[in-house]
Amino acid sequence: MLTKSMNKQIALVTGANRGIGLEVCKQLAELGYTVYLGSRDLQKGQESHSKNLSSNPNIIVLELDITKKENLEKARISIEASHGYLDVLVNNAAIHYDDWETITEIDFQILKEAMETNAFGALQTTLTFLPLLKHSSHARIVNVSSEAGSIASMTGTAPAYCLSKIALNGMTLMLASKLKRFGILVNSVCPGWTNTDMGKGGRAIKVGAKSVVWAVNLPVNGPTGGFFRDGKKLSW
Ligand SMILES: NC(=O)c1ccc[n+]([C@@H]2O[C@H](COP(=O)([O-])OP(=O)(O)OC[C@H]3O[C@@H](n4cnc5c(N)ncnc54)[C@H](OP(=O)(O)O)[C@@H]3O)[C@@H](O)[C@H]2O)c1
Repeated sequence: MLTKSMNKQIALVTGANRGIGLEVCKQLAELGYTVYLGSRDLQKGQESHSKNLSSNPNIIVLELDITKKENLEKARISIEASHGYLDVLVNNAAIHYDDWETITEIDFQILKEAMETNAFGALQTTLTFLPLLKHSSHARIVNVSSEAGSIASMTGTAPAYCLSKIALNGMTLMLASKLKRFGILVNSVCPGWTNTDMGKGGRAIKVGAKSVVWAVNLPVNGPTGGFFRDGKKLSW
């Protein structure tokens, strides 16, 4: 069996053709990882790669729509054929920061779509790549969440987004519990309010991405089943 200790470290980042995901790919490649840049539109991923990352040979663009099971399966087969294992999965892709609506006027179509991508998509991605993660000697799963998904600070706005991130945080706890015996650390990370297409303001993308990369680089005895921003605990 191939293990991390013997081989190059392999990472996969979903929703990585722009925003925080793209910067996470860059930072992980700079740390020496071979990085699969997941993009639901292959052309967008390739354009983004040639514009921002072409100087780094350790980044490979992969077509990956996390809501499409066949597409996920194809991506798994491709990584399995090239490496046989995966050390890091960053579930970053997300949609619908619906700050224009509240819980009392929620559009159920938006709620459904947010759940499909932000929660079910992340879980389906995790389960698809789990066999490869189990072949790593100390794998990491990072669910890119948001303090908007903290029950402790819940308000009535952005209901679809908040509910989808609460579900994602629940999955972090459940997966952490189930996967501890395989040495797989599973954590939720909030990148903070970050100046991407979604954030439309806030801190620099480099800073938001660094918050995510922190949870990738945890030591073997590092925390699992936690919720963090900038390496500091957040309330569930
Ligand atoms: N920005 C913030 O202030 C902030 C704060 C807290 C948490 N976050 C979280 O940080 C993560 C990254 O956010 P961001 O600000 O970088 O957002 P973003 O700029 O809107 O990027 C979202 C990425 O997700 C991709 N995506 C959407 N649906 C997908 C699917 N079905 N399959 C694969 N990829 C898909 C998008 O691809 P397309 O280009 O094809 O649409 C895009 O690459 C998200 O989980 C978000 O909830 C962000």
